[in-house]
Amino acid sequence: MVEPEVYVLIDERGERYLVSSAEPMARVAGLGVLSIEKVRAALGRRLTVGGRSVLVLPASRRDRMETLERRAQVIGPKDASAILFQADVLPGATVVEAGAGSAWLTVALALAVGPQGRVISFEEREDFASLARANVTRAGVADRVEIRVADVSAGIPDRDVDAVLLDLPDPWTVAKAAWEALRVGGHLATFLPNVEQVRQTVEALQTLRFVDVRTVEIIERELEVRDTGTKPSFAPLGHTGYITTARKALDKFL
Ligand SMILES: C[S@@+](CC[C@H](N)C(=O)[O-])C[C@H]1O[C@@H](n2cnc3c(N)ncnc32)[C@H](O)[C@@H]1O
Repeated sequence: MVEPEVYVLIDERGERYLVSSAEPMARVAGLGVLSIEKVRAALGRRLTVGGRSVLVLPASRRDRMETLERRAQVIGPKDASAILFQADVLPGATVVEAGAGSAWLTVALALAVGPQGRVISFEEREDFASLARANVTRAGVADRVEIRVADVSAGIPDRDVDAVLLDLPDPWTVAKAAWEALRVGGHLATFLPNVEQVRQTVEALQTLRFVDVRTVEIIERELEVRDTGTKPSFAPLGHTGYITTARKALDKFL
C-alpha cells in the first residue's frame, strides 16, 4: 500500500489545515475544496485558496496531531515525544495502546513504528473508536493501525509486543495483562494526571516482574524572541500528566 502524502497549509495567522492525497479533492474546513495536484505543485510556496493565502509544507508529526479533532483529554506533542523515547518505540515495532480516545498518541506511535510496524489500539467506546479511525485516516497512517472496540482490562491476546502504552484512569487493572503481552525487555508506559493514580500504578508494577520503574513530568516553557527583548513566554506552565515507564523482566531484585 502506498502511503498517502500529507501536507499542511498554514495561513498568516498560523492556522493549520491538513490535506492528504488519500482524498484527491480535499475538503478543508474554512478553505473549501482543492485538488491534491495543486497542493503538491505549490510545495514550499504560498498558494491562494478560497481567497486566502496559505503556505504549503509537508505535514510534520506535530501538524498531523494538532490539526485532528479532539474530544477527550489528548496526549499532545510535549508528552508524546517523551513517551516515544522512554518506551523506545522504534521503526518496525509492534505496540499495544489503550484507550485510543481521539488517537493523538496513536498517530505519534504510528509515525514512529513506520509502515513496517503495527499499532493495536483498544477503545471501549464505539464513538471514540469511530473518531480514532477517522483521525488515523486523516493523518495518513491507517495502513498500520488497528482500532479494537474492547475493554482492555478483559485481557490483551497479543504476545511479544515491543511496548504497551496506557492512557486510561486505572492502568493497574491492566498491568498483569501488559506483562503477559510484552516481549522480554519490552516497555510499559502509563500517562496519569494525579499522583494517587501514579502511586497505585507503581505499587501494581512492583508486585509483578517489571524493572526500571520511573515516573517523570515533562515541563515545557517556550522562549519568545522579540525586538523588545527575549524572554520566557508568560503562558502558564500547565500540568498535563505524569509518565510512568517500566520494562518486563523474568527476574528482579527484591
Ligand atoms: C484520555 S482518553 C485517551 C486519549 C488518547 N491517548 C489521545 O491522545 O487522544 C482515554 C480513553 O480511554 C478509554 N478507556 C478507558 N478505559 C478503558 C478500557 N478499560 N479499555 C479500553 N478503553 C478504555 C476511554 O473511553 C477514552 O476514550
